Amino acid sequence: MEASNYYPHELEEYIRRHTTPEDDVLYELNRHTHLTEYHPRMLCGQMQGKFLELLCKMANPSRVLEIGTFTGYSAICIARGLSEHGHLHTIEINDEITQQTLDFFSKAGVGHRITLHVGDALDIVPALDEVFDMVFIDGDKREYPQYLYCSLPKLRAGGFLVADNVLWGGKVIDPKADDQYTLAVRQFNDQVAQNEDLEKVLVPLRDGLIIARKVR
Ligand SMILES: C[S@@+](CC[C@H](N)C(=O)[O-])C[C@H]1O[C@@H](n2cnc3c(N)ncnc32)[C@H](O)[C@@H]1O
Repeated sequence: MEASNYYPHELEEYIRRHTTPEDDVLYELNRHTHLTEYHPRMLCGQMQGKFLELLCKMANPSRVLEIGTFTGYSAICIARGLSEHGHLHTIEINDEITQQTLDFFSKAGVGHRITLHVGDALDIVPALDEVFDMVFIDGDKREYPQYLYCSLPKLRAGGFLVADNVLWGGKVIDPKADDQYTLAVRQFNDQVAQNEDLEKVLVPLRDGLIIARKVR
């Protein structure tokens, strides 16, 4: 797939060559997304996908929540990082992409490990009768503060919160950027930073990932 523009092209290629390649299913999903979706760059891609998979293999969560499935790339990566009894609940508001997503989950051999909820995460998360070991936030950036508010009570003490796009193309430090997306991402980052129940690191991976552990 083409370069993501987060790094200079040659560096991107170098990173790619030193990361486990996509298998045929992820390659096909990546290609399919680029051919059929208006905003294919929302898909996390090879490097971040492998990062999520390895993060799951390290933290070994049993129950994972993802907000923002899109075409299912990150969900497949997360599910592949789970142990045999692990399960991912992933939520997508756009019902037009759900059947193809379910087909890719099956093709990837992880359909049995994923429950896809179709609807608004802000309604679905509070209604889920689950305690999660990991939460991955990757939905509408304007809703990040609300995702934090509704998902933190569902995260067990010792569990991990991961959120994507927290640098928002660098706009978080641009004093002229005052659009709804940037304001919400800044608010989210500040809420995480100020929350003493979370130990955290903002990793400048692609568009920025926050990784936080709920201490209590
Ligand atoms: C950045 S994309 C997710 C990319 C995906 N995690 C991946 O890496 O392949 C964000 C997705 O969140 C969905 N979304 C936006 N608002 C939502 C909400 N309130 N509840 C659930 N999904 C939402 C969008 O429709 C979009 O598909």
